[in-house]
Amino acid sequence: MLALSRRNLLKLGTFGFGAAALGYARASTAAAEITLPIGRTTCEIMPTLPTAAMMGYGPTGPTVLHLTQGQHVLIHAQNRLEEVTTVHWHGLRGPNAQDGVPYLTQMPIGVGEDYTYDLTPKDAGTYWFHPHCNTLEQIARGLAGVVVVHEAQDPGYDADEVIQLRDFRLGNDGQFIEFTKPRNAVRGGTLGTVTTANWQTDLHITAPAGGLLRLRLAATDVTRVFQIAVTGAEVRVIAADGHPVPAPYAIADLPTPKNREPVAAPGTWPVILAPGQRSDLAIVMPAEGGIVTVDMALPGGAQKTVATLIATGPTLGRLVADIKPLPANPLSEPDLATAQRVDFTIGWSPDGTAGTSGICGDTPYRFWSINRKLWPGEGAPDPANPLAPLAEITLGKSYIFRMKNETKNDHPIHLHGMAFKLLSSNQRDLPPHWSDTALLRADETVEVAFVADNPGDWVFHCHVIEHQKTGLAGLIRVA
Ligand code: C2O
Ligand code: CU
Ligand code: CU
Repeated sequence: MLALSRRNLLKLGTFGFGAAALGYARASTAAAEITLPIGRTTCEIMPTLPTAAMMGYGPTGPTVLHLTQGQHVLIHAQNRLEEVTTVHWHGLRGPNAQDGVPYLTQMPIGVGEDYTYDLTPKDAGTYWFHPHCNTLEQIARGLAGVVVVHEAQDPGYDADEVIQLRDFRLGNDGQFIEFTKPRNAVRGGTLGTVTTANWQTDLHITAPAGGLLRLRLAATDVTRVFQIAVTGAEVRVIAADGHPVPAPYAIADLPTPKNREPVAAPGTWPVILAPGQRSDLAIVMPAEGGIVTVDMALPGGAQKTVATLIATGPTLGRLVADIKPLPANPLSEPDLATAQRVDFTIGWSPDGTAGTSGICGDTPYRFWSINRKLWPGEGAPDPANPLAPLAEITLGKSYIFRMKNETKNDHPIHLHGMAFKLLSSNQRDLPPHWSDTALLRADETVEVAFVADNPGDWVFHCHVIEHQKTGLAGLIRVA
């Protein structure tokens, strides 16, 4: 269930409390229950240099929770950190009260306190969870996990694996270094120093030879935008940001030193995973002993392998023709003819003023804005001076959000509580795709459409966490 290598099992350190009951929630009658301990841990990310002062969901490094579509589950979060936290379920469409945003949907979970989240996933697919409190530091120290919501009916893969892609910001001694620098926060954000897959720099996963592997990639970094391709096997993208794509498609080639901006071949799309985004791949594994690599693009057209997949056992003889579209999730189709358009401008902060709230790890800087409005951050909107939602929209109606990036930096814009359909970009073709996090590249305008079918105050923010924490955040009220 947890994608653990022997290395992690052997070398992960103490967690400060007893073994955790992390696991599958697949009971069929009453609500399933999962215990989610949140505590300090140690992990060997750089060989022989264990990183102290990590934070983890459970003692075992990268955590995967397995839920089932339509099945009620109670998740008991146990805060064993020395600071407050919350758990936000990124992409899971559920009631506002379970959304895990401090002061907005719940009070922070105090030190030593427990808090139960009550979820019934509507949608199958790959989602993730993370704190929404002191978010930069807590995610940077390791608090990010993946939620696999299994289809109510098994779609027939021979193996199913999760890879979390993310960096850690470590010095040469393997210990954390400062997570943010103002001069980066005002640009693309502060990159980590060690890129990992499942907290490892050299991840190996075995899968049945000739089998169909479902590989779920989740970019849970606070800053880095990954571009990914797979070498050594036939591959199709079957879902993006949790939701099935209508027709599985092949992955466009990565840039090379000679061709730094390759044009995607017809019917292929690049797999670009900005912070918060996911991609489910169907991979036809080669014959026994065959090697498949998952590769990421680096600047200048270079590439690097982030994970190696090794085919084992007697061949299962599956074919690319065996890859079928996954069953669609129950999303409401927006009515584009009547949809109301709402404009958002992603830009600089109107005056660059320092913020005031120090609660929940807010930073003292304001570099960014949506519609030139400041938001005091997720810490504590001052009740004496509440900032209006960026937009108040009507329950049940269709909307087109036109999001315009007037900066030169990437902004993965995330909406809580609902999924939207990508309609168009002023710069590129977009694959047909439902999402909760739309990447806006430099000067890009993207339009998305959705039905406002989930009541509540929903956070709407950039998922480059330094941008979120320095102003690029707001609320959308659905009532
Ligand atoms: Cu990934 Cu506000 O969330
Ligand atoms: Cu979210
Ligand atoms: Cu941003």
